[in-house]
Amino acid sequence: MAMSRRTFHMITGTAALGLALGGSGEVHADVSAPTGPPPDPPRADGRAHTVGFDRYSMLVDGRRVVLWSGEMHPFRLPSPSLWRDVLQKMRGHGYNTVSVYVAWNFHSSAPGHHDFTRVRDLDLFLRTAAETGLYVTLRPGPYINAEVDAGGFPGWLTATPGTARTSDPTYLGHVDEWLTAVNRIAVRHLYTRGGGTIVLYQLENEYANHVTEAAGRDYMAHLYDKVRADGIDVPLFHNDKGRNGYWAPGTFDTGGERGRWLYGFDGYPSPFRPPPDWGYFGPGGTKGGSTASPDTPGFLAEFGGGWFDPWGGAEFGGKGYAESRRTRDAAYERRFHLTNLANGIKIHNVYMTFGGTSWGWLPAPVVYTSYDYGAALDEARQPTAKLVPMHQIGHLLHTVPELAELDRAEDVDVGGGPALRAYHLVNPDTGTHVHVLRNDSTGEAEAAVPVAGTTVRVPVPGLDARLLAAGMSLGRRTLRYSSAQPMLRLAVGRQDLAVFTGRSGEVTTTVLECAREPRVTVLEGDAAHTYAQGTLRLDVRLGGLVRVLVEGGGVARPLLLLLADDETSVRLWPHHTPSGPFLVHGPALLRTAQRRGTTAQLTGDTVDDADLEVWAPPGVTEVVWNGAPVPARGTASGSVRATRRLPGAAPVRLPALTGWRRRAESPEAAVDFDDSAWRTADRTTSYATTPVPAGQPVLFADDYGFHYGDVWYRGRFEGAAGAASVSLAYVSGTQGLLMAWLDGKPLGTHRMPVPDAKTVRRGTWSATATFPIAPGDGPHVLSVLVRRMQHDEDGGANDSHKAGRGLVSVAFDGASPAVRWRIQGEAAPDPVRGPLNNGGLYGERHGWHLPGFPDGDWEAVPLPRTERGQGVVWYRTRFRLAVDPGTDASIGLTLADDPARAYRAQIFLNGWNMGQYINDVGPQHTFVLPNGVLDTRGPNTLALAVLADGTTPSGPGTVELTLLGRAAGGVPVTLVDSPGFPSRSL
Ligand code: GAL
Repeated sequence: MAMSRRTFHMITGTAALGLALGGSGEVHADVSAPTGPPPDPPRADGRAHTVGFDRYSMLVDGRRVVLWSGEMHPFRLPSPSLWRDVLQKMRGHGYNTVSVYVAWNFHSSAPGHHDFTRVRDLDLFLRTAAETGLYVTLRPGPYINAEVDAGGFPGWLTATPGTARTSDPTYLGHVDEWLTAVNRIAVRHLYTRGGGTIVLYQLENEYANHVTEAAGRDYMAHLYDKVRADGIDVPLFHNDKGRNGYWAPGTFDTGGERGRWLYGFDGYPSPFRPPPDWGYFGPGGTKGGSTASPDTPGFLAEFGGGWFDPWGGAEFGGKGYAESRRTRDAAYERRFHLTNLANGIKIHNVYMTFGGTSWGWLPAPVVYTSYDYGAALDEARQPTAKLVPMHQIGHLLHTVPELAELDRAEDVDVGGGPALRAYHLVNPDTGTHVHVLRNDSTGEAEAAVPVAGTTVRVPVPGLDARLLAAGMSLGRRTLRYSSAQPMLRLAVGRQDLAVFTGRSGEVTTTVLECAREPRVTVLEGDAAHTYAQGTLRLDVRLGGLVRVLVEGGGVARPLLLLLADDETSVRLWPHHTPSGPFLVHGPALLRTAQRRGTTAQLTGDTVDDADLEVWAPPGVTEVVWNGAPVPARGTASGSVRATRRLPGAAPVRLPALTGWRRRAESPEAAVDFDDSAWRTADRTTSYATTPVPAGQPVLFADDYGFHYGDVWYRGRFEGAAGAASVSLAYVSGTQGLLMAWLDGKPLGTHRMPVPDAKTVRRGTWSATATFPIAPGDGPHVLSVLVRRMQHDEDGGANDSHKAGRGLVSVAFDGASPAVRWRIQGEAAPDPVRGPLNNGGLYGERHGWHLPGFPDGDWEAVPLPRTERGQGVVWYRTRFRLAVDPGTDASIGLTLADDPARAYRAQIFLNGWNMGQYINDVGPQHTFVLPNGVLDTRGPNTLALAVLADGTTPSGPGTVELTLLGRAAGGVPVTLVDSPGFPSRSL
């Protein structure tokens, strides 16, 4: 039966539970006015809500909502206080949803153990998202990819039987334990129950390799059943790698609940080609395209809002995140997201919106520590120019719900040459027309758009796009058309308010339907107006904030038109509150707004001195900013405006880092080192996918319970006389290395070649290091350190995360002694900082990275410094910060040196592993130190574990604190627990 437009075929939630479970599972319900005002921002309000969808959009309590979502990963920001900062910035800049992966490895150090405390406090994150008024899409995997170690699988899973990402029973047993633990928290935060704001939940991720096999279909059905059995009653979905139609509704067994399953896919198109069409304007994909799931809304579960960057070096190509942000700039975002909108996408998720930091051993081998991603909010939590389109599109989608229900309309010829692409859409209920005009050439083009019997001329800059609306309600009045892009529509206080935007200096035309001539007052800016034949025409040159007040003409409610250039548009902050909407203009960020009697209580940030102007519910005459009353008076714009500017941020002074102390380690290289407590490497079988050579014991670190960072081996042998060389085969991720010593003397360092070198097969990361030796008969001790650089991801669902890591085998040329190996990796996981914080360096195993470690007897040295030799040397210092309490300073650590020097450093701040610097590879030099881990008003301990190849002199060179951003305001920051020496884990 064909479904009527006014029918939606799924509701979930406690209110609908009886219905949903009692019938076929497919629930039809009439919605009388889905295109009414948008629902208020969600809160954990304790009420039951329905979360459903039809073919156009999500329906929350029966109201249309376009999800304009941003991805952030709590596990990439190890300071829970700052989650609120990022979420508030997202909400302020127009996002209404946050999408989060939950990384299994981050929470689980051993089978059955799941830690959701401290920086792993998922419950707190979900509470914060709800308090911020954001919907949540929860994505707990079990597999997530996300450029994290093993794609999110715990290290211990690499040493278990069974094929991951299939219906293998051992794997499913572990998965069920994980999902039970996550879902116990998630159910408390379902929007359907009013406990939180989760409205969508993802199973698996880009699961493409077993689509047609029983092992794949059964696996997906198992996940579906498990999640439903755990009480997750919101719509579920999978994220298809491109619009292939994989796991579209009906392709696997969802227990008859077809209407509660959405089809989602992702896209990371090249910025150097025109945006792809899918949905309304093209087949999209190869195996299903726009027909993949015609009854569910267009859903981009991820769309590239930047791109990750690989390690640098001439061969490998990491160029740094400034390059990501340059190639995927604001115009890119506008061009691609508006194309998505034209193609019927109603659930958007910008991956990443805040990338954050892959601290510790979290990064997959393909990336380095920073996961800045070139995202709209940078790794240091600073807004970038890319927020302009996000802000404008997000607020538009939220305040103009007509855009949640668009059909393709007849094509129009807009001229302008072949590179100018026009999309025409219409809302079938309201008749609102939307034109998306996209210029795929580098030069500016002019579109001549036929609208309402006339031709509207719109300049479209090169490699950019814009949205033109016609026949759109602005409250009591109707827009005939505007060549400026609409950004929002609000009824604030006693007037309607509409904002239009564009590039500074553009001349725009806006025409309103006005049956009778209204009174028009240009309150500010360069604007001319004419009235003729029932229309008011405004010609406005964009620059700052142009204000035009339209009153009378038979309409009781005034309309304030605000035309803002891009820069000004991101200083306009609509905020929906239970007492009605606010619009705030001026500061760098509005975090919260509420009405208390006659006062608008606002919190937010300023960077420079800023104006403050507030459109508020009726009766508000006073303003309080960050707790302090601000003198203000009413304006002709119907606002309350501060009579003096808000002060900007105070200067931040950072100390030089001095007082360094130095100590060499790697005692494991010495002949007489006591390794009696180390594990004997005596296993004969491995769970690794890498073959174990015949006649050798298993040497992979994971098989012995060591999953992260460096691993040491000591091999004893006799009967070596005549050997001319020793060959050590090893496996690591990219930029891994092996260094060896024979009887305490360095043999040298072997660096894992980058992929296009001949000695390594791409994807296996295995190589053999051969060192010349001339030993006598023995006994001898061979000491080997392998820097593993993490497990591969498992994107192909072929257990590639189980590729071995560490030594594979040893062979001698000219002799064949049997080597008896012992192995030592990381100590027990840090109970506070988690399993990914530490590897197996001597200093890490003995707490040299921790605050309070007694380093008084270490050698005092100045930096920069030149060291020689192979092995590990530690440097420690303390510094004290005194950042003004009202200032949010974002601080990084910058290391620099002669790039010919072959060394790397792990950076420990107050015991937290903030990442890895590779001096001769790069590209990362600055490491973000998140407040909370960093005490901005107290003492801090910094430790560097410097691993030098020994092939060149090594550093450290200069090591400095860098200011990455500052604002007056911020969020209150609670220090994370940073236990010092001695640690419980040692
Ligand atoms: C997607 C994947 C994400 C992430 C992204 C690239 O295909 O779903 O987890 O890996 O690519 O950053």
